[in-house]
Amino acid sequence: MQRPIYLDYAATTPVDPRVAEKITHCLTMDGNFGNPASTTHIYGAMALEAVEQARLEVADLINAQSEEIIWTSGATEANNLAIQGAAHFYQHKKNHIITVKTEHKAVLDVCYALAEQGFKVDYLSVQKNGLIDFDELKSLINNNTLLVSIMHVNNEIGIIQDIEKIGQLTKQHQALFHVDAAQSAGRVAIDVEKMQIDLLSLSAHKMYGPKGIGALYVRKKPRVRLQPLMYGGAHQQGLRPGTLATHQIVGMGIAARLAKTEMLQDMLRITQLRNQLWVLIKNLPGLHVNTDFTHAAGNYLNISFENIDGEVLLQALSEIAVSMGSACTSAQQTPSHVLKAMGISDQLAQSTLRITLGRFTSQADIDRAGAVIRTACCDIIRS
Ligand SMILES: Cc1ncc(COP(=O)(O)O)c(C=O)c1O
Repeated sequence: MQRPIYLDYAATTPVDPRVAEKITHCLTMDGNFGNPASTTHIYGAMALEAVEQARLEVADLINAQSEEIIWTSGATEANNLAIQGAAHFYQHKKNHIITVKTEHKAVLDVCYALAEQGFKVDYLSVQKNGLIDFDELKSLINNNTLLVSIMHVNNEIGIIQDIEKIGQLTKQHQALFHVDAAQSAGRVAIDVEKMQIDLLSLSAHKMYGPKGIGALYVRKKPRVRLQPLMYGGAHQQGLRPGTLATHQIVGMGIAARLAKTEMLQDMLRITQLRNQLWVLIKNLPGLHVNTDFTHAAGNYLNISFENIDGEVLLQALSEIAVSMGSACTSAQQTPSHVLKAMGISDQLAQSTLRITLGRFTSQADIDRAGAVIRTACCDIIRS
């Protein structure tokens, strides 16, 4: 059976074969399988060397120092460590947090929990295209603001927030700045120095690395302190204990290196393909586009259909693998909180497709996907 064309790269990416090969070398007796904390022998020392090399590569992708990278299980854990960790460490000095209504649940749910504990949390609204209103942020930030947490690229519509401008403002108020970069790493340039970021979350499986591994960048100068989520050893400066998963870390390191060297070329090609797909379908009746091409990452195409039921549409599109919203919310029947925050009606939000392209998307995939979407929509409208 032929598998559908994969156009859901924002949910996850396949592991790049070059990454998979390096991972395999860290598993078996004849490979680099040691415990990186057991450095009394060559097995552990070799594993530690591989982990430190990967740390350098991840740091290099975002212009950080390697000692500023803390391995986590993914961006969800990185977001939790950043937000809960900062809030709990500094709670006796400040207790105000600012985030955005369109953040990923791995940020919003943490903020809801902190609000329950007594922190004051403000949720910024967004404009029609998903960009925050900078003046609203300016009016809310004050000297009691402990943390501002704003994502770089939105995981549903691809909008890119102006992180550098926000970074400057946070520094004027001595507030910490956390950025969820799960969707931007490897697609949009990140420079934690230029952008004045204090904490930044990354996920390997969004950039052709394995699932179950991510990282949190924690600024050293000036030093950002965090209360750990877990206790259990001195690994990783006591911030995140547990035996390091050499194979996954090595995978993330190679993925970061490839992202750095191939990002520009990759994104140029992918953006052209996304634009071609748009040209193929843009004249369909009742079609709305939710991705603002001038301010969004070039791999995104989020579209809604008037008077077409989303489930019916998805069934008719069995030849392509796309999602109705984000992977984390698509199991729910409620309309996307991101589209709602942008002012999109429930009906439109419920008949939305998030199409995301990636490194392995081909011209033939896009030609076929365009034809499939056109035929499916015309058939549904006619019936
Ligand atoms: C913006 C964003 N943040 C966080 C996450 C969670 O990442 P992970 O799967 O690595 O926990 C995702 C994944 O969907 C995401 O898109």
